[in-house]
Amino acid sequence: MNRQNRPKEVWGSRLGVILAVMGSAVGLGNFLRFPGLAARYEGGAFMVPYFISLLILGLPLAWVEWSLGRYGGSQGHNSTPGIYRSIWKNRIAPYCGVLAIIIPAMIYMYYVYIEGWCLAYAIRYLFGEMNYGADPAAYKNFFFDFVGMKGDGVALSTSGDWPLGSAVLFTAVCFTINFILIYRGLAKGIEWFCRWAMPLLIVCAIIVLVRVLTLGTPNPELPEQNLLNGLGYMWNLDVSDKSFWASLCNPEMWLAAAGQIFFSLSVGFGIVITYASYMNKDDDIALSSLTASSGNEFCEVALGGMIIVPAGFVFLGKAFVENPPSTFGLGFVALPNVFNQMIFGQAIGFLFFFLLFLAAVTSSLSMLQPAIALLEEGLGLRRKASVAMLGFITAVGAAFVVYFSKDLLALDTIDFWIGTFCIFVLATFQVILFGWVLGVDRGFEELGRGAEIRIPRFVKFIIKYVSPTYLLVIFGLWINQQFFTAPTNPDDLTWPQKIQQSSVVQMTLGFIVVVIILFLLLIAQSVRRWRAAERAETEAAP
Ligand code: ALA
Repeated sequence: MNRQNRPKEVWGSRLGVILAVMGSAVGLGNFLRFPGLAARYEGGAFMVPYFISLLILGLPLAWVEWSLGRYGGSQGHNSTPGIYRSIWKNRIAPYCGVLAIIIPAMIYMYYVYIEGWCLAYAIRYLFGEMNYGADPAAYKNFFFDFVGMKGDGVALSTSGDWPLGSAVLFTAVCFTINFILIYRGLAKGIEWFCRWAMPLLIVCAIIVLVRVLTLGTPNPELPEQNLLNGLGYMWNLDVSDKSFWASLCNPEMWLAAAGQIFFSLSVGFGIVITYASYMNKDDDIALSSLTASSGNEFCEVALGGMIIVPAGFVFLGKAFVENPPSTFGLGFVALPNVFNQMIFGQAIGFLFFFLLFLAAVTSSLSMLQPAIALLEEGLGLRRKASVAMLGFITAVGAAFVVYFSKDLLALDTIDFWIGTFCIFVLATFQVILFGWVLGVDRGFEELGRGAEIRIPRFVKFIIKYVSPTYLLVIFGLWINQQFFTAPTNPDDLTWPQKIQQSSVVQMTLGFIVVVIILFLLLIAQSVRRWRAAERAETEAAP
């Protein structure tokens, strides 16, 4: 590739890039999704498939993405279509990159909405506007009104009190913050923000954690509801009526654990590969990847996992923890009720939702960069134009999610098809690209260049054989569970039933298809430009 096309943007420092990748990883997944899943799948038993997935999928796939990205960067590419094209000399290679662009961009469309809820809750705590008394239903009611769960278009109105009751206003504020930062660029925007937001959010999380760990037994009439039992629920292997082995035999739990590892590490999203492409060719990536992943796991397991579940257990009991209202509901519906019963609850509530807001911004920022990289590198747009174009596309998507808010159906549909299904497909594609197309030996050469640690040789075997097999098996089980098995709870609908019954689900899928086609067209145009540049370079060569 023509050297003039080498990336002009680079990270400011090694710590900066680690914090940026960690910032992308640490998000709502760590503080809301992980505890929600651990609670749903019997605490300690969930940790077994979780750690196996971390070792077999999470860490190896993170190394895969860092290596593919830095390799592509050394060939002059920052966008995944360009990176894939430089590795796999096949006409369809760049088009496979569409997933790595639309996954982050479409997740952003609903993530920024939830980010808005976090900011709103933090500000409401700051102004003492989150006290709805001892009635848990009051908190649920507020949440349902605020996010518009009772009807389409309801989120556009305010739940009585403007401006603090307007989800749209807070979403618009978050949207603007993200785009200002992304406009400032890699080092001055993303890296700058992550440099102070990451330490700050960890400090906030530690303060909240200390408060939770000093809860003791707040209600002497319910001695069972004490902190030790709350922590035990999270970590002991047999906390439910089922035996530990019976809990482990649930394939759904294995799928959920693998999905959580991808979501949490931002692996299989197309983000890490883009970030790594801005590194220099001799920068260490092996240790940086391990550091960022370990930082994420610390935030997830040691901070996220120790706050919500034990606090919910102590104040609301085991029955509540076993049946969380929903992944996000646990945070937004239950915790305000918990904070309300706690000494210093208002301050702790503010700190908790503020840290969620910071964690969400560092993640959502990273979701914009892959598409920006394509618009700049493929279409040759300047930053202003690429930011404006992506701003328009994601604003339409976010407006779609905010408008079709009844039961959060549009959000759930995008989360399932993009945030779970497409992530599995992309992760599988990338591990095969590394292990079988680039070649595991060449891939390891890339990974090892400039590395400050030596990756054990057996990781090659894991990447080439174990990770793809594990992915394909759980993917098969998952398809079987989603499409061919009746749900355990008869009230739950399968996806084919949801699609048949709901016009909003159909429209959302239509919207996803439109976005995919749009980006495929942009990739086709980029390929034309790359080919023209290559022809010109060949003709110019002596
Ligand atoms: N990795 C990000 C999170 O955990 C997307 O929220």
